Amino acid sequence: MTADPRLRRKTIALVGLMGVGKSSIGRRLAAVLDLPFKDADTEVETAAGRTISEIFETFGEQAFRDGERRVIARLMDEGPHVLATGGGAFINDETRALIKARAVSVWLKADLELLARRIGRKDNRPLVRGKDPLEVLTALAEARFPIYAQADIIVETGDTPHNEAVEAVFRALSDHLAGAEA
Ligand code: S3P
Repeated sequence: MTADPRLRRKTIALVGLMGVGKSSIGRRLAAVLDLPFKDADTEVETAAGRTISEIFETFGEQAFRDGERRVIARLMDEGPHVLATGGGAFINDETRALIKARAVSVWLKADLELLARRIGRKDNRPLVRGKDPLEVLTALAEARFPIYAQADIIVETGDTPHNEAVEAVFRALSDHLAGAEA
């Protein structure tokens, strides 16, 4: 994959549900494009000096959402990079407007049962702790899919290795660029 330098002019923001691979795909995509990689969840944790679970437990979800909004606003002012957003970030009107204005947004979409299997193996997501992951994801999908659909690009990823998803995102970005310049 040879990256067209024009793909490096704008931040690329990956959005979508938990478990879809925004961070792993984002990290690899950044390497391919030779751009820095940033993870909004990690940036929120660093700013707060606490894990996301601790922020939810100690201050509540709203405090996390406020931190997430501030962190992404700051990142949108930084130079081009590949950004993995947390699953709820693009749902916030202000954050979505900023991402739409400053970045190319890519919705990574995958089968909910696959996502449920992936996130069920980990205990780091407060929204699913103690709950049935598929039920949580189904409710989130219903509420969020119409909003994720406002992303500039949609890439369906399956149960394939992340490097295949990276190639699919790369191709979709290249097509988007070609379309935008046509
Ligand atoms: C959330 C997704 C998580 C994290 C937080 C809330 C959500 O990020 O921001 O637990 O609302 O979907 P990932 O999508 O990176 O798991």
